[in-house]
Amino acid sequence: MTLDDTQRNDWWRDAVIYQVYVRSFADSDGDGIGDLPGIRSRLPYLADLGVDAVWITPFYPSPMADGGYDVADYRDVDPMFGTLADAEALIADAHAHGLKVIVDLVPNHTSSEHAWFRAALAAGPGSPERNRYVFREGRGDLPPNDWESIFGGDAWTRVPDGEWYLHLFDSAQPDLNWDNPHVREDFRGILRFWLDLGVDGFRVDVAHGMVKADGLPDVGASEQRKLLDTRPLPYFDQEGVHEIYREWRKILDSYEPQRIGVAEAWTPAADRTARYVRPDELHQAFNFHYLTTDWDAPALREVISASIAAMAPVDAPSTWVLSNHDVHRHVTRYGDGEVGLRRARAAALLTLALPGSVYVYQGEELGLPEVLDLPEDALRDPMWERSLRTERGRDGCRVPIPWTSDGSAFGFGPDGSTPWLPQPAAWAELSVAAQVGAAASMLELYRSALRLRREHPALGDRPALEWHDGDPSVLRFARVDQASDRRLHCAINLGAASVTVPVAGTVLLASGQLDSDSGDVLLPPDTAVWWED
Ligand code: GLC
Ligand code: MG
Repeated sequence: MTLDDTQRNDWWRDAVIYQVYVRSFADSDGDGIGDLPGIRSRLPYLADLGVDAVWITPFYPSPMADGGYDVADYRDVDPMFGTLADAEALIADAHAHGLKVIVDLVPNHTSSEHAWFRAALAAGPGSPERNRYVFREGRGDLPPNDWESIFGGDAWTRVPDGEWYLHLFDSAQPDLNWDNPHVREDFRGILRFWLDLGVDGFRVDVAHGMVKADGLPDVGASEQRKLLDTRPLPYFDQEGVHEIYREWRKILDSYEPQRIGVAEAWTPAADRTARYVRPDELHQAFNFHYLTTDWDAPALREVISASIAAMAPVDAPSTWVLSNHDVHRHVTRYGDGEVGLRRARAAALLTLALPGSVYVYQGEELGLPEVLDLPEDALRDPMWERSLRTERGRDGCRVPIPWTSDGSAFGFGPDGSTPWLPQPAAWAELSVAAQVGAAASMLELYRSALRLRREHPALGDRPALEWHDGDPSVLRFARVDQASDRRLHCAINLGAASVTVPVAGTVLLASGQLDSDSGDVLLPPDTAVWWED
């Protein structure tokens, strides 16, 4: 493929985008909750880490029924997180550090405290206010259909006048009615509001959910959450959502410099995900198929190939995601403890060598594990109560970041403050301060890999990926840059025994100790190496 200059300037195609979960990143005022000035104070860290952009999870006014994904006002900042002036200052500072800023947009539902929903409740059945949401008559005393909330229980709640409203998530998150032109118009205005403020793009929450199948038909099965990525559902991945993104793309394209949209779309297959990033829709979609694949060489090779193949026809870069604020951290998914950490180190080199864009979830560069033993009274995820205390939910991946090895909050907040979720004592050793400059640390591995990824012409988005066949428990490929005629080789040993890889040239980076840095190099289990010949 030949590139024109505009394509080369597509910064997002190979961007490494760092996810900041605002509540848990840095707390400037000591109230135990992360905030915008906290993020601002840590921008030098992010610039030095070598990422290209930050995506910040919702910081809008919110009763926090779902960690801010219940938005009560789309054009302001919750006082807990700061002010609009803080948001502006953060965007300006980030830009000065060479970092783009992506904010979270939550269009599927509002908070039940949003003025629109309050008006809908007050105005009563049949009113235009109610038509902004999805209100229906029940079936006698039963909800209108059999849809279940992703967080457990029914997806419907009854209001005193007898009608029911739909909420695919918590009952404090009523779904908007995207058939209503006023809803569409409001969101066009919200997009412009933040674009005018200078944001570089939006991460679109539940991007597959806004449009529901006509007539709201039953699913006909229970435990629907387990079906999400395996079969079509009447409330997800409906054709109508794409019309919304075509409209939004025109708005994004009307701004300079380039602004982007990223879809959080859970779909049954990569080719369904690709439909969100057609040339006239959004720019990227999270690759959850990669995230959910086990530490298994053939399975990873298959999902990598399928992802690249699915994106090729729409000419969108694939994305590579290992963790986020909704899933168990991958150190733990890959086996926890030393094994999990070793695999996570190898996974970092695998992921950063793939073509496309990479998402890094705060703390993965520190090798943080999932906190599995949070006390029950500390749990805040609505999933805990909605599942009738059968699912602990997602708090374990949201524990505040340890910046220093001492202090009551390990530097997350001022000494003396208490973080909103307790940090394990062992995190002292995983803090930024403990890892920076320590050659064998996860943090230094990420910094080295990110630096090489920036500098090496064969990494990034466009250079082809060529698989090397051989031992099925080893993933091995080369990235090939035609223009410079340079190659970067990557091999990861997912087997139980060491294997020999022929390094013609020199090792650039390895995720573990190697016996040599050229020639026949012995690659231990769960270890990755990059070399150039
Ligand atoms: C997305 C968010 C998740 C939130 C849900 C409802 O999946 O990532 O954290 O609970 O949407 O907004
Ligand atoms: Mg705070």
